[in-house]
Amino acid sequence: MKKWSFFREALRNFRTTGSIAASSPALVNKLVDPLPTNRPLVIVELGPGDGCVTRAILEKVHGESQITAFEINDAFVVKLNQIQEPRLRVLGIGAERLTEFFAAGSVDYVVSSLPLSMIDKATKERILRQAQLVLRPEGQFLQYQYALQDYGLLKDYFHRVSVSFTIANLPPAFIYSCSLGIV
Ligand SMILES: C[S@@+](CC[C@H](N)C(=O)[O-])C[C@H]1O[C@@H](n2cnc3c(N)ncnc32)[C@H](O)[C@@H]1O
Repeated sequence: MKKWSFFREALRNFRTTGSIAASSPALVNKLVDPLPTNRPLVIVELGPGDGCVTRAILEKVHGESQITAFEINDAFVVKLNQIQEPRLRVLGIGAERLTEFFAAGSVDYVVSSLPLSMIDKATKERILRQAQLVLRPEGQFLQYQYALQDYGLLKDYFHRVSVSFTIANLPPAFIYSCSLGIV
């Protein structure tokens, strides 16, 4: 998807898109950095948008991995469906329906670009609770944000939350890596 197409979707749906530009390669690389490459993974992606993170995940992970993407914007869903990749399943539904598709403890990584700061508290908590539930004990929830306002909320759901930062994005972004801390 061209840059202006993302911008147009952002203008049309700013509350759900939460950004005027797709994530930079630097931010995307930092977000997917924790994904191991040596074994097949079950990955859930929340808010893939134009697919910049999706493509990076597909490029990086083991060939037998499975990636399921939850995206509510129909224009983005059309673009995501153009990615010819048998490992990718695109669902045109909200992240709050995660547990309809995944059993407890069945997912290795949840990679989220959701604009958490623009999602109402009840929905956000529902999504985080479901992400916590579907993750395997050693799994991780990876998320970026442009400010740290949801750090405390993430700590409510994940025992260990580490944060890194990149200035190489518009705007600069924080990257959370969250684990259950069971193993
Ligand atoms: C900031 S954009 C991220 C796009 C892309 N992953 C990136 O990093 O550039 C956020 C995306 O989350 C999607 N989104 C917002 N709320 C959602 C929800 N409840 N479930 C699934 N997707 C959602 C929006 O439609 C948008 O595509």
